[in-house]
Amino acid sequence: MKLHVSGDVTVPGDKSMTHRALMFSAVADGESRLRGLLPGADCRSTASVLRALSVDVPVPPADGSEIRVVGRGIGAWTEPREWLDCGNSGTTARLMMGLLASRPFNATLTGDDSLRSRPMRRITAPLERMGARFQELGASGTLPIEVGGGPLRPLHYASPKASAQIKSAVLLAGLGAGVPVSVTEPVLSRDHTERMLRGLGEFVQTSVADGAVHVSLTPSGRALPPLDLSVPGDPSSAAFLVALALLADEGELRIRDVCVNPTRTGFFELVARMGARIARENQREEGGELVADLVVRPARLRGIEVGGQEVPAAIDEIPMLAVLAARAEGETRITGAGELRVKETDRIAAVAGNLRALGVDAEELEDGLIVRGTDRPLSGAVHSYDDHRVAMAFGVLGACPENSVEIDDRAVVDVSFPGFWELLAGVTGQSPD
Ligand code: S3P
Repeated sequence: MKLHVSGDVTVPGDKSMTHRALMFSAVADGESRLRGLLPGADCRSTASVLRALSVDVPVPPADGSEIRVVGRGIGAWTEPREWLDCGNSGTTARLMMGLLASRPFNATLTGDDSLRSRPMRRITAPLERMGARFQELGASGTLPIEVGGGPLRPLHYASPKASAQIKSAVLLAGLGAGVPVSVTEPVLSRDHTERMLRGLGEFVQTSVADGAVHVSLTPSGRALPPLDLSVPGDPSSAAFLVALALLADEGELRIRDVCVNPTRTGFFELVARMGARIARENQREEGGELVADLVVRPARLRGIEVGGQEVPAAIDEIPMLAVLAARAEGETRITGAGELRVKETDRIAAVAGNLRALGVDAEELEDGLIVRGTDRPLSGAVHSYDDHRVAMAFGVLGACPENSVEIDDRAVVDVSFPGFWELLAGVTGQSPD
C-alpha cells in the first residue's frame, strides 16, 4: 500500500508566542485582543497561573477565536493563595519566575512529575544575582520553588546556553522591576520575547560581537500598552506534518500561516539538506513575525551531520529529525544536543530506545545520537514517556502503511497539538485510531 498525502491545513498557534502573549497581556494596562492562541495544555497552564495572580485570563478557546484579557499592570497582581501549578510546561515555570521575581510577595511554582524533575537553577541563579530569593521545597534545583520577589538590581548575564527561557526570564525580571538587563548567549535562541517587547514600544537591542549574541532591555518605565495579536501556526507542530509529507509516496501538503521566524526554522533547513524541497509561499510579516505557507512533497532523504550552532533553531524538532533519519539513506549523526536530556523527558534516550524497539540501528551519544537509515518495515511498541513530541514523532512513522507502531499514550499530544491524530488521519485518509 502507498501513503498518499493531500490537504490544505493549518496547525494550532505557536506555543512560545501564546505563552508570551498571555503573559504580556497580564502585564499590560488595558484590554488585549489575542487570536489564534494555542489551546494546548501548556498554554492553559499559563492562563491558569495568571488567573491565580488575579488577572482575568480566559482559557484559550479550542478554535483559536479571539479572547480579551484585561490587564491592570503587573502592579495589580496579588499574592496567590495556592501553589501555582505549571503542569508540564517548562516555559510557564521559567518565564513566570522572571515576572514573579519583582513582585512584592511570595509565590510557589510547581508542576507535574516531569516538570518537577527539570533543572531550574539555570533560571534562579541569574535572578538571585538581581536580588530575588528562591527556596527549593523539593529535590535540589527543582520545583516546587518559592519565589520571594521584591526590588531588583540591573544585571548583565553571560548565559552558558542558547536558551530562550533563560534569556526571557532575565528580560521579564528587568521589565517587571523597571531595571536595565542584558543577556549574552552563544547563539541567538528564539527571540519572540524581544520582538513582542519591541512591538509594545520597549527598547530592546540585539547585536553580535565576539562570536556571541548580546540582547539588552532598557525598560521605558511606562505601562505596557495592550496587545492586538494574531498568533501564527507553530513551526514545531508543522514539522510533524512536513515529516509526514516527506515520508509519503505521493501527494502534496500545504500548511498555511506558519511562523517562519529564522530562530525557529532549523528543522526545515536540516531536512532540505537531507534532500527535501519545502516551498514557502505567501511569505509576509505579521505582528512582528515572518509568516508563510509551506508546501511539501515526498522526497528521498539522505543522512546528514547535525551539530553545534544549528541545534538551537531546531531543538524541539530533533526527535522528529532523528525518526526521519531512520528512513533516510545512510547515517545521520546529531551532536551538540545535550539539552535534549532535560526536556519533557530525556529525548535522546527516549528516541534511541524507541527506534531500537522498532528494529532501527540507533546509538545514543552523550549529546546526541546516531541513526542508520533502513527501508525495512518497522514494527513494535514504543513509549511516549509522557512527552508530546516523542508521541508525535513516532505517530508520523506509524502513519506509513508498511510500519506498525504501537504508542502507549497518544493523548499526551494535547500538550502542544490538540487534534494531532485527527489531522494526521485527515491528510492521509486513514482512521484517527
Ligand atoms: C522555549 C524555549 C526552548 C524550547 C521550549 C520553548 C520558549 O527551551 O525548547 O520548548 O518558549 O522559550 P530552552 O530555552 O530551554 O532552550
